[in-house]
Amino acid sequence: MNTQSPKRPHLVVLSGAGMSAESGLSTFRDSDGLWAGHDVQEVASIEGWYRDPQCVLDFYNQRRREFVGADPNEGHRLLSRLEDYYRVTIVTQNVDDLHERAGSSRVIHLHGELMKNRSVRDPYTTYPVTPDTSALHVGDMAPDGSQLRPFIVWFGEEVPNMIPAIEATEGADLFVVIGTSLEVYPAAALLGYTRRDCPVFLIDPKPVHSTYRPDLIQIQKGASEGVRELCHRLRQTKEWG
Ligand code: OAD
Repeated sequence: MNTQSPKRPHLVVLSGAGMSAESGLSTFRDSDGLWAGHDVQEVASIEGWYRDPQCVLDFYNQRRREFVGADPNEGHRLLSRLEDYYRVTIVTQNVDDLHERAGSSRVIHLHGELMKNRSVRDPYTTYPVTPDTSALHVGDMAPDGSQLRPFIVWFGEEVPNMIPAIEATEGADLFVVIGTSLEVYPAAALLGYTRRDCPVFLIDPKPVHSTYRPDLIQIQKGASEGVRELCHRLRQTKEWG
């Protein structure tokens, strides 16, 4: 394929925690996942924040400590290389930056970014995490004079990036779901915005279903092996090769 062609197909990826599992980051709903040891309503909801902000900050301070040393895995790297052949948009529920660090150039974060902070007053202005603002405490103030918090979309909050994510999905020629249980909305509803003639692949070691696209093609493998297999299948399919 001519990599300069303006007609490159648009490949949209929806990734979840399983995408980063092989980089050593925990998923949420697996038996050893984060929600097995924490109450999601306490540590990742706006109500939890109002009840006990330091408990929420402690949870994300710990996530940041775990994040140090995590590197992109082969799955992330292969997805970035697909940009040689496709126009690729990654829509991720992950708050890590492993897609970007692997070289993907268009990444839409639905649930925020762990290594950024924001103030409680202004949801849109972000501040990169520095050694001084990596571990947050109640009383740490943003430049606007209000409490600093992680730039994370908690349960009970709006998901502003759904709009660009829906636009990308509606224009997708190929849609690939990787490492998500599809249990969290509105992210899971994105599949409902795919065109009927847009093939949907799903890479996950466990069977995952979508009522929006019961016809999805499952590659029942982990992220790295699964993306390798996807690349192989795409090369073999003339239309996409
Ligand atoms: P889940 O923990 O719900 O699902 C992770 C999925 O990854 C499961 O389907 C696993 O089978 C799969 N998985 C495990 N290991 C894998 C591997 N090596 N390769 C590929 N897949 C693997 O995580 P999410 O669906 O991402 O939101 O969760 C969605 C949202 O729920 C998160 O963004 C987070 C959470 O609460 C917030 O905190 C706002």
